[in-house]
Amino acid sequence: MRIAFFDAKPYDRPAFDRYGEANGVQFKYFETKLNADTVELANGFDGVCIFVNDTVDKAVIDRLAAMNVRIVALRCAGFNNVDMKYAFGKVHVLRVPAYSPYAVAEHTIALLLTSIRRIHKAYIRSRDFNFSLNGLTGFDLHGKTVGVIGTGKIGRVFIDICRGFGMKVLAFDKFPAKDLDNGDTVRYVELDELFEKSDIISLHCPLTDETYHTINAETLEKCKQGVVILNTSRGALVDAEALLQGIKSRKVGAACLDVYEEESDLFFEDNSGHILEDDVLARLISMPNVIVTSHQAFLTKEALENIAETTVNNIIDIFKNGQCANELCFKCSEAKDCGTGKCF
Ligand code: NAI
Repeated sequence: MRIAFFDAKPYDRPAFDRYGEANGVQFKYFETKLNADTVELANGFDGVCIFVNDTVDKAVIDRLAAMNVRIVALRCAGFNNVDMKYAFGKVHVLRVPAYSPYAVAEHTIALLLTSIRRIHKAYIRSRDFNFSLNGLTGFDLHGKTVGVIGTGKIGRVFIDICRGFGMKVLAFDKFPAKDLDNGDTVRYVELDELFEKSDIISLHCPLTDETYHTINAETLEKCKQGVVILNTSRGALVDAEALLQGIKSRKVGAACLDVYEEESDLFFEDNSGHILEDDVLARLISMPNVIVTSHQAFLTKEALENIAETTVNNIIDIFKNGQCANELCFKCSEAKDCGTGKCF
């Protein structure tokens, strides 16, 4: 089996080569992203393997199908970059539903602690032998209320960690988990209550039409003064301009972003020699209380191993059995768990 691997990075290859070779799947690595301009590179392959910033829209799906490339193997969980409705019946869309929820949840906490304890400032100061503590006052997490939007795999690990810190959790999910709400330290509430009562808000839901710009000017208005916004999920969950205004007006106390609305042309690449055209991102990065990492939350050894293993198994399942438990169909974007795994 030959798979065209788009948006390849050096850290992807070792695990994919190992699992691929062991299972008869050969990967050809392309540094370019998959989109309508690059789709011809997939000609002659059995499938494509893509990541979060590749684009599988109608044009790409039509070309893949015409070239008889029947597999789109996402090596990530989110699938908002694939036109699922249009893909139905034309290509198999496979994903890695979970590779390490711990990686993402732990990165979220790392960002939060860095931000509120000013570690990013202290690190730079001490390298310059500046041991002054002025301006580094933080606040305790213990006793604070964290609002968690999306209580799936990552959200739940994040909640467990927050509980370890002695925080209270207000949760919101379109499909609440019956066993999570204990009526005390973890409670499901309506979004408005979450916005009004949370000291920190962390996003762990997928990007859909419903969740687009969950954090916007109107919802920020409902938030507590000094609210801390954490987004390690998908960029467009946050209206970046509204967030910037919130920072400038001091309504938002801090923001930690591992994802950004317009990240696709910037993140994962070294842009240090270029003039940054995105004024909103440039202004956000310039703020002392904003921390940006470039979609790094997933990047642990354990996650990379799991991603490669599951992706190779997904591809083999489709080739050998014609179906795969991790196959998506358009219903998945409308229901919590489609569960069919049989789009064809
Ligand atoms: P999951 O599918 O286990 O959980 C998502 C939760 O969001 C589910 O409980 C679902 O019911 C809920 N949800 C769906 N629609 C909602 C709505 N309208 N409002 C509120 N909640 C809603 O997914 P998982 O693995 O926990 O991942 C969460 C998100 O994290 C993914 O969608 C992905 O965008 C992001 N992610 C980011 C990574 C990174 O490196 N920064 C890596 C992996 C995932």
